Amino acid sequence: MTLVDEPLWYKDAVVYQAHVRAFLDTTGDGVGDFPGLMRKLDYVKSLGVTAIWILPFYPSPLKDDGYDISNYQNVHPAYGTLREFRAFLDAAHARGLRVITELVINHTSDQHPWFDAARRAKPGSNKRDFYVWSDTDTRYPDVRIIFSDTEHSNWSWDPIAGQYYWHRFFHHQPDLNFDNPQVRKVVARVMRFWLDMGVDGMRLDAVPYLIERDGTQCANLPETHAVLRELRAELDAKYKNRMFLAEANLWPSDVIQYFGNGENECHMAFHFPLMPRLFMALRQGDRHPISEILSQTPEIPSTCQWAIFLRNHDELTLEMVTDEERDYMHQAYAHDPQMRINGGIRRRLAPMMENNRQRIELMNALLLSLPGTPVLYYGDEIGMGDNVYLGDRNGVRTPMQWTPDRNGGFSMADPARLYAPVIMDPVYGYQAVNVEAQERLPFSLLNWMRRMIALRQQHRVFGRGGIDILRPENRPIFSFVRTLDGEAPVLVVANLASTVQPVTLDLSNYTGRTPVEMTGGTTLPPITTAPYFLTLAPYGFYWLRLETGAR
Ligand code: GLC
Repeated sequence: MTLVDEPLWYKDAVVYQAHVRAFLDTTGDGVGDFPGLMRKLDYVKSLGVTAIWILPFYPSPLKDDGYDISNYQNVHPAYGTLREFRAFLDAAHARGLRVITELVINHTSDQHPWFDAARRAKPGSNKRDFYVWSDTDTRYPDVRIIFSDTEHSNWSWDPIAGQYYWHRFFHHQPDLNFDNPQVRKVVARVMRFWLDMGVDGMRLDAVPYLIERDGTQCANLPETHAVLRELRAELDAKYKNRMFLAEANLWPSDVIQYFGNGENECHMAFHFPLMPRLFMALRQGDRHPISEILSQTPEIPSTCQWAIFLRNHDELTLEMVTDEERDYMHQAYAHDPQMRINGGIRRRLAPMMENNRQRIELMNALLLSLPGTPVLYYGDEIGMGDNVYLGDRNGVRTPMQWTPDRNGGFSMADPARLYAPVIMDPVYGYQAVNVEAQERLPFSLLNWMRRMIALRQQHRVFGRGGIDILRPENRPIFSFVRTLDGEAPVLVVANLASTVQPVTLDLSNYTGRTPVEMTGGTTLPPITTAPYFLTLAPYGFYWLRLETGAR
């Protein structure tokens, strides 16, 4: 199998987010590696996903789990070699899986040779100007601090340079200076290095913050978009079927700027504000948060696509909610302060759902049917737990649980040597939650996920279609129709409440069609001009294909 020649592949994709470090250790050093990830590609493929996004795997002091890069054009020795990366890439492609890597260009590690050269170079010289310097720490006073739990300023003093340097994230991550044409040139070179190797997509980390200007919040500046257009032009000039995915944690009306005119910036962008609202709606048993954010989400160019997700490697960010909503989310999902970081929530999906299978299924059913390309976080497909005592966001990055054997089958190393302990508690521990056990049971979460992903992949309307949101009177019911020319519409009806709920839907637009329940194939009574009545189990949902004519 090889990759299909399809420039819009990302619109039909289901993405699996994995961490090399956390997947499989083949050398016994307690750290996952590329040969391990490669060995597990058949597993990834078996989920039905079509792309794999891997977290940074470059040489790094690993103070920010690899988002602090000290060499852009190599592989961290603990994860393997460039040759092993290439072998992994080829093996993924041979299975029809696209590979998305990270282009972390806002900042480097302070261990990067560019920073070392900059701090020693003459002020004003090109080398010094690779980064953003100032004689005071008072410039750009309006800029907020992102890692508010650990950083107190976006400036840090460098005794060697005798100046302050600018950093939007950790103090050991100095921001590159995109006003310097030389920086733009080397960044483009890094991009080409990985694209030449065959990488299919790049997640542009922290992309709103590339440029700083006085009197602004130093985010989303026109100059930042100009940098993106430069990179995109380079991408389009030299490569086919590649993709940029923007990580821009903003309101939809701001994020759409990252799509440019649909041809000149990013192909995809994460829909950050939708995510916490799915959790809020579920807890409140009320669709309002979801329908409200969707109604605020503008149309995007037809060549572009949202990336939607429930959880990822970071905290569940609550930047795009009001203060009251944040308090509510904390109360509902992070009653223990240990579960919080930087204002967000560092937990995995299953524990946030209190391991309630109906809730987990409902959230995934929404993820797989709302407009956008779903991104699944490794381990969530088996309902893995977290370890909120590990510090920073490490509690959601623990080793993948393959078997009930030592270290969950992740590594043969002494347990003490693992980069992070495996989850061992009685509910989520590897003896209770692992791939091997779930492979055996047709009704395990793992196999349920596989069936739902497979179902989604049979209908292009999910990836490409529009959405028509219904507004039945009963607010625990969230319902919408996905539509695409030439395809039968799909009606989704979801009950966000923990109790049985009735609903009456106005389906008069679809009069004459017959709903067919998609997971089991049962035909429901045909739609007439009369209100359509359904009853849903607690946290129940239906995917109904509205077929023409009677069956
Ligand atoms: C992004 C990453 C996060 C990282 C930060 C700084 O937000 O998702 O993990 O810490 O950038 O690079």
